[in-house]
Amino acid sequence: MTNSTKFWAVVPAAGIGKRMNADRPKQYLELAGKTVLEQTLLRLLQAAVFETIAVAISKEDPYWPELEITRHEKILIADGGKERSNSVLSALKAIRDRASDNDWVLVHDAARPCITPADIHHLINNLLNDDVGGILALSSHDTLKNVQDGSILGTLNRIHIWRALTPQMFRYGMLKNALEAAEGNPAVTDEASALELKGLQPKIVEGRPDNIKITRPEDLALAQFYMEQQ
Ligand code: C5P
Repeated sequence: MTNSTKFWAVVPAAGIGKRMNADRPKQYLELAGKTVLEQTLLRLLQAAVFETIAVAISKEDPYWPELEITRHEKILIADGGKERSNSVLSALKAIRDRASDNDWVLVHDAARPCITPADIHHLINNLLNDDVGGILALSSHDTLKNVQDGSILGTLNRIHIWRALTPQMFRYGMLKNALEAAEGNPAVTDEASALELKGLQPKIVEGRPDNIKITRPEDLALAQFYMEQQ
């Protein structure tokens, strides 16, 4: 790495969050006096490492323009896409003129507002000299079952099983190529899986268990509790 290597953040925020059963996408639900998305962006800004935070927003999103943070000098908006990976690719293209292939990009879900600046630096410090990059992840404390039609087919060896969190940190050029090559592939549910399809082996860095993704209604109360504890 050279001193000129830069860090960029990409935040896919164009999902509709069906599992919340709410009147608006989950990133716009209220959490500790702000929207979930604002809390997430504030945490990324607090890390004080990113040139720009490129946020992918749906073209039909009426909530984003109402937020004060849209006018922050470090925040850039990109059009969201059909799937998460399309949204990430769109945000990467929005910084194409300023980012070098060798720069690092940290992709972080809009719906993970409890990310700590310390965990962002933990990820960066662990991967800075890595050839491929990697992700924050959590080992599983539960025994995990392989299930089909309601019946257990077998037990997975949990030593080998980790839960993928975000941020996921990769080189700009490598990530963009991998996502372009994987476009339309339903198996690509995170950035690491696009690199895996290229035969690469991203690293895992153990993250904090409070870095939850808001998915169900009860997650909001849990996120508020974690934010207060932090
Ligand atoms: O739905 P899920 O929780 O897996 O979405 C993860 C992240 O990807 C969320 O921040 C969501 O807003 C974003 N997303 C997106 N574009 C899509 C679908 C999801 O930016 N088409």
